[in-house]
Amino acid sequence: MFACIVLLFVSFNTCHSIGGDTLSAGQNLLVNRTLASQGNIFELGFFTKGTSFNTYLGIWYKNFTDKIIVWVANRDKPLSNPSSSKLEFSEDGNLLLLEDSSKTPIWSTNLMSPIANSTEAVLLDDGNFVLRNSSEPSTVFWQSFDHPTDTWLPGAKLRVDKLTGKTQSLVSWRNSEDPAPGVFSLGIDINPNKTTQFYIEWNMSVRYWSSGAWDGEKFNLAPEMGSNNIFNFSFVSDESESYFTYSLKNSAMLSRFVMEQSGQISQLAWLDGVWDWKILLTQPSKLSEVYAYCGAFGIFNETSSTHCTCLQGFKPLSTEATLLDDWSGGCVRKIPLQLESNVTRKNDVIVPAQPTLIMPAWHLWNDGQVSELLDVVLDYACNSTVLRYINIGLLCVQEKPTDRPTMSGIVSMLSNEVAPLPTPKQPAFSTSRAVKDTDSSPRMTGTCSVNSVTITVIEAR
Ligand SMILES: *[C@@H]1O[C@H](CO)[C@@H](O)[C@H](O)[C@H]1NC(C)=O
Ligand SMILES: *[C@@H]1O[C@H](CO)[C@@H](O)[C@H](O)[C@H]1NC(C)=O
Ligand SMILES: *[C@@H]1O[C@H](CO)[C@@H](O)[C@H](O)[C@H]1NC(C)=O
Ligand SMILES: *[C@@H]1O[C@H](CO)[C@@H](O)[C@H](O)[C@H]1NC(C)=O
Ligand SMILES: *[C@@H]1O[C@H](CO)[C@@H](O)[C@H](O)[C@H]1NC(C)=O
Ligand SMILES: *[C@@H]1O[C@H](CO)[C@@H](O)[C@H](O)[C@H]1NC(C)=O
Ligand SMILES: *[C@@H]1O[C@H](CO)[C@@H](O)[C@H](O)[C@H]1NC(C)=O
Ligand SMILES: *[C@@H]1O[C@H](CO)[C@@H](O)[C@H](O)[C@H]1NC(C)=O
Ligand SMILES: *[C@@H]1O[C@H](CO)[C@@H](O)[C@H](O)[C@H]1NC(C)=O
Ligand SMILES: *[C@@H]1O[C@H](CO)[C@@H](O)[C@H](O)[C@H]1NC(C)=O
Repeated sequence: MFACIVLLFVSFNTCHSIGGDTLSAGQNLLVNRTLASQGNIFELGFFTKGTSFNTYLGIWYKNFTDKIIVWVANRDKPLSNPSSSKLEFSEDGNLLLLEDSSKTPIWSTNLMSPIANSTEAVLLDDGNFVLRNSSEPSTVFWQSFDHPTDTWLPGAKLRVDKLTGKTQSLVSWRNSEDPAPGVFSLGIDINPNKTTQFYIEWNMSVRYWSSGAWDGEKFNLAPEMGSNNIFNFSFVSDESESYFTYSLKNSAMLSRFVMEQSGQISQLAWLDGVWDWKILLTQPSKLSEVYAYCGAFGIFNETSSTHCTCLQGFKPLSTEATLLDDWSGGCVRKIPLQLESNVTRKNDVIVPAQPTLIMPAWHLWNDGQVSELLDVVLDYACNSTVLRYINIGLLCVQEKPTDRPTMSGIVSMLSNEVAPLPTPKQPAFSTSRAVKDTDSSPRMTGTCSVNSVTITVIEAR
């Protein structure tokens, strides 16, 4: 294991450019090599982010120590065995990303018509990776600019192909270490009957921001977006496509437009000796305007360092994700409970039924009529959940303590709604053992293991 980590460490820190910007037919790119654009502005190769070993093929700015990724080939299919992976040409001229000796590519340029061995793949100084005819470079078969991830670079088009109707959108990363598609996306309205504008959507369905109409210079709800003394923004529409594109007035400047995982778009620029990635634009300007940034049962909280807190009695679905500012999973109950009806509760803990209910419950259970226990006010849709809780409750009051589930067992039973549960055995209370009254305590003495958990039969009012 240690050797393996060292090996990875070494291989990722000794990445050598294969001495050029081009991959020609017959050549391949291994994990320890990169391509660099002619002016050394962009680099293409394999990368990992954070503490994850997941490896991706991508493009980043060459001169910054912290890799700023502008494009990812295999964003939702990481390589798990990078040392055996390579980018190479297939016999029909497509580029393939292969892992191990598998013939099925992890990713490919996926062109239908064979273009054979007259192709080459070149990383250009604008960050575009193109597959073109080596004897006729103006014939481009495929380009990364047509398959953006979360970043729109100067010179690239955000377009609608009028022939296929396909729209390109920018889709955020899931979190700062995972380039898989997140919930936020930037799209364009180009339908001639609609206002030509940008919009941001949550989960490809809920629109929570739009730029307003393009007037040829700028957007009416976001006037700082458009042409100004830094950018030349334009909209072009012809028979085959409609698109927005932009260029930089100062060619020494670097700039990128990003659909951030925060649900905001931003335009950043870098100028040697002047700016170190200055943010020129953020929309919507406030995080609180992002739809569902905190996910289900999360509340936006300006003063919290994570910007979100959970409703009382709830915790983040994934603490790992929220550490990476990914709140899309939202919050879940600390103790799962999915009843909407008037079930007696105390501090989100299910209050135990009277012990006297245990025997009826047990008998009804044995007779297969346990649903008789359910109060008619309960929504029938809840039946299965309630029956599950009754089942768990009966498991907790079994005669032999060793038969009773452990705390972690109960948590797992409660959090998994479908996994089959064991069949309960006869409860302790059915024998001559004395039953203590539990009036003052929300706990059933002697049940459910040493942790004195309060999980038991639910009593509906
Ligand atoms: C890259 O890795 C390959 C195969 O593991 C090896 O043959 C080659 O020497 C390595 N190149 C460099 C520059 O480390
Ligand atoms: C990156 O560094 C190389 C070599 O130092 C230099 O030639 C190139 O201009 C730099 N690129 C940028 C974008 O600063
Ligand atoms: C590449 O260009 C050459 C020279 O123009 C041409 O003969 C060849 O057919 C082209 N190949 C493809 C696949 O377009
Ligand atoms: C291209 O492939 C053909 C046959 O598939 C072969 O004859 C020719 O030499 C190849 N050309 C190059 C430049 O590899
Ligand atoms: C635009 O509106 C006209 C008239 O309402 C309709 O005939 C046409 O199909 C619409 N075009 C699109 C692209 O929706
Ligand atoms: C997102 O939309 C899909 C259907 O398009 C739905 O199945 C999914 O539950 C939605 N995600 C959330 C978090 O609501
Ligand atoms: C802006 O870009 C458009 C299209 O790319 C071009 O025709 C125009 O000349 C540019 N304008 C300026 C001021 O650079
Ligand atoms: C907001 O966050 C602050 C700091 O973490 C916390 O003290 C406060 O209780 C939170 N407010 C709500 C409504 O959760
Ligand atoms: C729940 O109880 C409250 C007050 O006790 C009552 O107003 C409400 O109608 C009840 N809801 C249901 C679904 O029974
Ligand atoms: C739920 O329980 C009620 C009452 O016990 C019963 O009448 C009903 O058929 C059950 N519904 C389902 C969907 O099982």
